[in-house]
Amino acid sequence: GSEAASAAFTTTTIPVPTSTQRDVHNPLLFECAWEVANKVGGIYTVIKTKIPVTVQEYGDRYTLIGPLMYKTAPMEVEAQEPHDPHLAATLDSMRAQGVKMLYGRWLVEGAPRVLLFDTGSVHYRLDEWKGDLWNLAGIPSPPNDNETNETIILGYLVAWFLGEYASRQLSTAIIAHFHEWQAGLAIPLCRKRHIDVTTVFTTHATLLGRYLCAGSVDFYNNLQYFDVDHEAGKRGIYHRYCIERAATHCADVFTTVSHITAFESEHLLKRKPDGVLPNGLNVVKFQAIHEFQNLHATSKAKINEFVRGHFYGHYDFDLENTLYMFTAGRYEYRNKGVDMFIESLARLNYKLQRSGSKTTVVAFIIMPAATQSYTIEALKGQAVMKQLRDTVTEIQNRIGARLFDHAARFHGENKDHVAPTDLLSSEDQILLKRRIFALKRNSLPPVVTHNMVDDSNDPILNQVRRVKLFNHSHDRVKVVFHPDFLNSNNPILGLDYEEFVRGCHLGVFPSYYEPWGYTPAECTVMGIPSVTTNLSGFGCFMQDLIDRPEDEGCYIVDRRAASVEQSVNQLSDHMFTFCNKTRRQRINQRNRVERLSPLLDWKNLGIEYSKARQLALRRAYPDAFYGPGGEALDEDEFEMPGSGLDRGNLMSMPASPKLRGMATPGDLGTLTEEMQKLETSDYRGGYNWPGSTADDEEDGYPFPLV
Ligand code: UDP
Ligand code: G6P
Ligand code: GLC
Repeated sequence: GSEAASAAFTTTTIPVPTSTQRDVHNPLLFECAWEVANKVGGIYTVIKTKIPVTVQEYGDRYTLIGPLMYKTAPMEVEAQEPHDPHLAATLDSMRAQGVKMLYGRWLVEGAPRVLLFDTGSVHYRLDEWKGDLWNLAGIPSPPNDNETNETIILGYLVAWFLGEYASRQLSTAIIAHFHEWQAGLAIPLCRKRHIDVTTVFTTHATLLGRYLCAGSVDFYNNLQYFDVDHEAGKRGIYHRYCIERAATHCADVFTTVSHITAFESEHLLKRKPDGVLPNGLNVVKFQAIHEFQNLHATSKAKINEFVRGHFYGHYDFDLENTLYMFTAGRYEYRNKGVDMFIESLARLNYKLQRSGSKTTVVAFIIMPAATQSYTIEALKGQAVMKQLRDTVTEIQNRIGARLFDHAARFHGENKDHVAPTDLLSSEDQILLKRRIFALKRNSLPPVVTHNMVDDSNDPILNQVRRVKLFNHSHDRVKVVFHPDFLNSNNPILGLDYEEFVRGCHLGVFPSYYEPWGYTPAECTVMGIPSVTTNLSGFGCFMQDLIDRPEDEGCYIVDRRAASVEQSVNQLSDHMFTFCNKTRRQRINQRNRVERLSPLLDWKNLGIEYSKARQLALRRAYPDAFYGPGGEALDEDEFEMPGSGLDRGNLMSMPASPKLRGMATPGDLGTLTEEMQKLETSDYRGGYNWPGSTADDEEDGYPFPLV
């Protein structure tokens, strides 16, 4: 089985012969991921936002490696010639053998060097490499799995590159850091070929975890019992799983993004991670502390604009008393908890109606699905509203002209007051009437903004139908499903994602499977409250750091020990409580949330990556760090870069969050100095899994629940 596959690399090889000549104090760093300069999901966010701190530490010794996407690369990368002669020679040699690539600067903050390989240019070698992979490790590769084919080609290209480069450049230690199975195949290849680099592998999920959770399995209570080979085979991902597992077992250092995924990796990938590297963000502080509140107001005005158009003819609610909630991400219906979100919205609707609330909630679901185009209705809504606005502006101008004229002229004594009839002509009245007439509509405001390729089988739409949230006037909760990511060129909801988030009031991410979950983290640094769960890496991280996260606008639903029914109720309670807040309370809460940003700043979390790299160097080049008796040679070198969280500053702010104990993000990362000794290799997972309530948890998916 896969065990043999991963063992084929590890047991038959003797430890990589290392050259103690290499300088381990100023190492080179190559960081490789499928999402380098290629946005898919959260891994892109990890890589991109981490660049400034990595560049600060490595400068030009840092190069990112990824796939070359001809559609987007010209926007992302500026081509350049390499300065390093060994690098230039390596790239020339590969080019001479038909490999196409792009080398240059990635045009993002930090402007790091980037090397993108065109996998298509060597597609003709796929069969040869597949054969090699089979001979080397017994990893099969079925013919039509394009994702795996791409993985194999990228893996062989990167191993080729590292092999050639490391044989030319002999003076400096090389760290190669890989993210996720799609970039990880180079790791076993490097090991097998004795390439003199040290490797780090970071998982952002496990393949099996994602697949198992998307089905209806009681995942967390059964983690230790899954027959991994069997489960992978059943789902047709055995070969992918083998690659993931080989990367995991061959890496010098293995890490993941959260404790919950560390636990999962231990059981599904059969290696305990060496440490947890929590995901950070590049937190930008505004000069004026309340600038982000103003941004909320201006972004909200743009969402208001959309809402007036979308609900035309049924726009009978008060926008001053309307709250915008949303969920967003890749379309993983159950894993991202969209099922729970919609169910909870239905209950919230009922609660608001029953309590006679005047508040309206517009709930957005931003998740890309297969679509044909915008619906006519969605486009029309924005069009009629624009016409109305244009007409009103015209009339306004005419009224202004008349008013001016009226005031400027002499009308005789005692005729100094202006009657409305003097100002609004009957032509204007008719024009306005016509526009208002155009706002009449027989249908309800649509739930979905696009024509779906498979409308009748879409899980989100079916759930909305089941709970009957059809945007009736009497519904206090309205639903808008936008089955595409946002961007500012969008004709109907023309905002960038960040702008949209800022304009909302509450992000809702009730995930069942979420190794980290950037979406609520992004809300936090933008000062927008959010709901997440204790099955998301981010949720657990905040719960570990903060005493009462919900007081800080960071709500965490229990999906671990609670039944599905209880979780849904918890979620709708949180939303209902939120609806009952006054504007002042909301403003306050936004301030409190925003204050948590330092906890998520790479300036504080980046140090965990530094530690992982240090550990990798120590494992690959022990002689450079330890004397014959195992004593450390150079104590100073243990000093890790990075400033650590400035707790003093955080605590001195008014109404600052109550942090737990002496916790700092650094404490939560698990690569301690003690662990950097060679003999230790386990993360100290402090999680008591599975929950003791295993017996009474009836994970009664799929919904309905009521
Ligand atoms: N995102 C985006 N546009 C959208 C919705 C989401 O760019 O309309 C981004 C979001 O900013 C986040 C990423 O997609 O950085 C999703 O990452 P997350 O870790 O939440 O989930 P993943 O997709 O990696 O499972
Ligand atoms: C920001 C602005 C305030 C505005 C408020 C609206 O805080 O600075 O001027 O009143 O947003 O808040 P709300 O929660 O009602 O959208
Ligand atoms: C994965 C996970 C997500 C995480 C992201 C970055 O795609 O699904 O939870 O935030 O990687 O680590």
